[in-house]
Amino acid sequence: MWKKIVKFVKYFTTAMEKIRLFDKTFKLFIPNAEIEKAIDEVAAKINKDNEGCTDIPVILCVLNGSMMFTSALMKRLNFTCELVSIKLSSYAGTTTTGKVQELMGFTSDVTGRRVIVVEDIVDTGNTIVTLAEKLKEHKASEVKICTLLFKPEAYTKDVKLDYVGLSIPNAFIVGYGLDYNEVGRNFEDIYVLDKEDHKLKFYVIFGPPGAGKGTHATAMAERYNLHHISTGELLRKEIAAGTELGRQAKALIEDGRLVPDDVVIRMIGQEFKTVKGVNGFLLDGFPRTIEQARVLDDMLAKIGAELTAVVSIMIPDEVVFDRIRYRATIEGRADDASVEIIQHRIDTYHAQTEPEIAFYQEKGKYHEVSGIGTIEEVRERIFRLVDTF
Ligand code: AP5
Ligand code: MG
Repeated sequence: MWKKIVKFVKYFTTAMEKIRLFDKTFKLFIPNAEIEKAIDEVAAKINKDNEGCTDIPVILCVLNGSMMFTSALMKRLNFTCELVSIKLSSYAGTTTTGKVQELMGFTSDVTGRRVIVVEDIVDTGNTIVTLAEKLKEHKASEVKICTLLFKPEAYTKDVKLDYVGLSIPNAFIVGYGLDYNEVGRNFEDIYVLDKEDHKLKFYVIFGPPGAGKGTHATAMAERYNLHHISTGELLRKEIAAGTELGRQAKALIEDGRLVPDDVVIRMIGQEFKTVKGVNGFLLDGFPRTIEQARVLDDMLAKIGAELTAVVSIMIPDEVVFDRIRYRATIEGRADDASVEIIQHRIDTYHAQTEPEIAFYQEKGKYHEVSGIGTIEEVRERIFRLVDTF
C-alpha cells in the first residue's frame, strides 16, 4: 500500500528540467517513473527464467555505471543469487574511445556457473563483448546480458542481449548511474546532452535610448531562457529603495548622464554570480562605455566564456524622441520627463556609447537590425538573427 502511494507521489513529482555538469547542460530525457517500470519488467523476465533454479547464479554488476540499476534490480529478484562486481571502462568524456580496459578483476570464481551481466548501457557493444569473452575464458556455464539501456543504432556486435530495459537513440546521457567525467551518476532521472545549449550564451542588446532594448530583451529572455539584466532597471530599483547607491545615481540619471563605471560593473558581477538554471545572460544597457566593454570581456574570460553577440537595434534620433515621449505618458520615468533630458541622453549615447559599435565590429560580434517598424516586425528580425547563434 505505502509502496504504491510512494510510487504515485514520485510519478507526479516534477524532475529538474535541466542540469549542468561542468561545461555542459543536460535536459530531462527519461523520468524515474519510466526507469522503475522498465526495471519491473526486466526483473519479471529474469525471475521467470530462473523459476525453480537449484544453482546460485552470479549477478555481475559492471561498475560504476550499473550500480544503481543493479541495486534496483536485485531488490526485485526472488531467487537465490550472488552479487559480484567488475570494473571496465570504454568512455573518456562524451565519446566512446573504443578501448576496453579491465580495471578491477573478478572477485569470485565463475567456473561452471551461470552469470547474468548487469550493464547500465550498451552502445557499440565493445565492453559487453569483451566481458562475455572473459567470462567464457573463466569457464562460466552460461552468460546472459541484462542492460537497462540499449542504443540499437550504435550496436556493432552480434552477441544477443537477453534483457533490455529501454531502447534509446544514440545520444550522450547521464543520471541513474551514468556519468559525464565521473559526475551526474546520482540523479534518479536520466538526462540527455542538450546540444543547443551546452555553453552559456552572453548577449548584449544595444541601441540608443528608446530603441526598444527593454521591449525586445523581455521577448528574447523568454524565448532563449536567458537572464535579462537591465542596468537601468537595477539603478531605478536602487533609487526607489532609497539606497546609498540609488541616491548617488539619481541626480546623474535624471540629468541624462551615465553613472560611474565601477558602480554598474559591481552590479553586473553580482548578477552573474547569483543566477542559475538559465541558458545565458542578456545584458541591456551594459556595456555603455568602451571601458565597460573591456571589463565585460575580462569578466567573461575569467569564467572561460566569451560574448556570443551584440544585437543592436538602430533607430534615428527623431524616432528616439517620439518613442520616449510616448513612453513618458505611460511609465512616468524621471529621465523621460523633458525634451532637454532626452536630448542629453541622446548626446551621451553618441559621445560615450556609440564608439562601442566599432569596438565590437572589429571583434566580429556586432549585428544590427533596423528598429523601424512594428514591435512584432522588429522582434521577428531579432529572433531570425539570434536563431543563428
Ligand atoms: P536605461 O534604462 O538603459 O535607458 P536607455 O538606454 O536610455 O534606454 P530606454 O530604457 O529608455 O529604452 P529602451 O531601448 O529599453 O526602449 P524600450 O523598450 O523601453 O538607462 C537609464 C539610465 O541609467 C541611463 O541614462 C544612465 O544614466 C543609467 N545607466 C544605465 N546603464 C548604465 C551603464 N551601463 N553605465 C552607466 N550608466 C547607466 O522602448 C521605448 C518605448 O518605445 C516603449 O514605450 C516601447 O513600448 C516603445 N517601442 C519599442 N519598440 C517599438 C516599435 N518598434 N514601435 C513602436 N513603439 C516601440
Ligand atoms: Mg530600457
